[in-house]
This record gives sequence, C-alpha cells and structure tokens, in this order.
Amino acid sequence: MKLNSANINVMMKACRNAAKHLIRDFGEIEKLQVSVKGPGDFVTASDKKVEKILIDELSKARPNYSILSEEIGEIKNDEEFKWVIDPIDGTANFLHGIPHFCISVGLEKNNEIVDGIIFDPIKDEIFTAEKGNGSYLNNQRLRVSGRSDLKDSMIFTGGVRHGSKDEDLIQKEYKKIASEVDIPVRKMGSAALDMAYVAAGRCDGFWQRNLNYWDIAAGIILIKEAGGFVTDFKGEANYIKNKNILASNSKIGLEMIELLK
Ligand code: 2AM
Ligand code: CA
Repeated sequence: MKLNSANINVMMKACRNAAKHLIRDFGEIEKLQVSVKGPGDFVTASDKKVEKILIDELSKARPNYSILSEEIGEIKNDEEFKWVIDPIDGTANFLHGIPHFCISVGLEKNNEIVDGIIFDPIKDEIFTAEKGNGSYLNNQRLRVSGRSDLKDSMIFTGGVRHGSKDEDLIQKEYKKIASEVDIPVRKMGSAALDMAYVAAGRCDGFWQRNLNYWDIAAGIILIKEAGGFVTDFKGEANYIKNKNILASNSKIGLEMIELLK
C-alpha cells in the first residue's frame, strides 16, 4: 500500500469530486444521441463544469499555484508551481457514449512535471505518479512492459485530423510504423489514457503529433516513473515545444524513432 503525498491527495480529491458529475453527465448522453442536434452543447457544458470543479478545488487547496487548462487557458500566479489540466480527454468518445475518456491533471514545478493523475471515472481506474515515488494504478505499482520486439507490440496513436497541416506527414509516419507491427495500430481516442496504458504495460508504444501540453502533462510523469521512455520523434526531450511525442517501454523506443525519421 502506497502513501500519497499531500499534493497527490489534493489532486485525487478534486478528480473524485469532478468525476461524480462526469459520470452523471455520461449517463445522460445516451438519451441525447437520438435528438437531431445530438449532445454537442451538453458535452461542452459538461466539460466546462468539470473544469470549474477541478479549478475551484485545486485553487482552494493551493491558492498560489498557476493554472493552465484546456478551456480557460492560463492563470498566472506562483512562478514555481502550475496545474496543467485537461477536464475531459477523449471528448469525442464521451460525446458518442463510448466509455473511454478521462480527467488528466499534471503538476509542474520549475518547468518540470512532478506529479500526475489520470482518472478514468467509468472504469474507476486512477493512475497516479510522483517524481521519485513511482507510478500506481489505484494502489498497485506500475511498470512498463518488457516487450522488446516491435513486431509483437501493441501500439497506439491518435492518427490524423482531417485538414491538419501535417496530414501527409502523419499518414506517412503511420504507414511506416503500422507496416512493422503484427497487431493493427490502435486509435483509442484519448491521448492521456494512451499514455497511462503505456505506463501500465498494457500498451508498448504510443506516438502522436500536435498534442497540447494538457493532453500529455500527467502522462509524462506516469511513464517516466514506470520506467518508460518519453521523447520527441528525434529522441530528444523537446516534446512539448515540438508538439510531437513518443512514449514507450524502454525497449522499442529507439526502433520507433528510426521509423519516424
Ligand atoms: P480531447 O479529447 O481533449 O480533444 C484523440 O486522438 C486525442 O487527441 C484526444 O486525447 C484529444 O483530446 C487529442 N487532441 C486534441 N487536439 C488534437 C489535435 N489537434 N490533433 C490530434 N489530437 C488532438
Ligand atoms: Ca485532451
């Protein structure tokens, strides 16, 4: 049984509270699918409500910390600490009633992510990590997988968004990786959960372009603390600035970088 730090407890409490609303709203979504307009506006409202709960709770507990969050953007405060929040990651899944989405919160200290939580409210899976203290799923310690052969690996990506400026490049990269693995590459629809699954050893490798910081913040510390590998496509540490990220067990990372060149 692990002991949580004070900051992890604060994050956990905020997420649990927000998750109650998220679960309730998810129950409403199914009913809205049959309406002509669909649940779009309802989901936007839900996203904002979840964000507000998270921010209210986190700033009540830590009034001096800065905040970066998907909907509201940046609130500058303490120079040292910053919450990096994605209230619903996997929004399209949520919108379509697919139970695969999460809340993601990272904590940055002096420009480095030191704490992270990825909370899947439907499966009741809480992934947490703290610098120097390991990664956990609920109370179980996590390790990345030991698979060393890319051919046998389970690989995730988010794929390409229609109209992206990098559309051709992303297709080309996809083909290169996909042609090296036996199991078809998965697109699960939540980048944060994709990263949590790498930390948990369920997935062996994940790569994607054009993600925002809030999509990946918590996942970064989860993977590092589970013994994994997080870089940009060149194998360097500029994944936030360059907006391309590769996360893997430590064994297949270099092979994936070669293919992405
Ligand atoms: P969201 O649910 O918060 O929008 C889907 O591939 C994943 O990518 C989701 O985690 C989604 O986050 C995220 N995503 C957000 N913006 C994106 C973009 N411009 N291109 C690709 N993926 C994006
Ligand atoms: Ca997101």
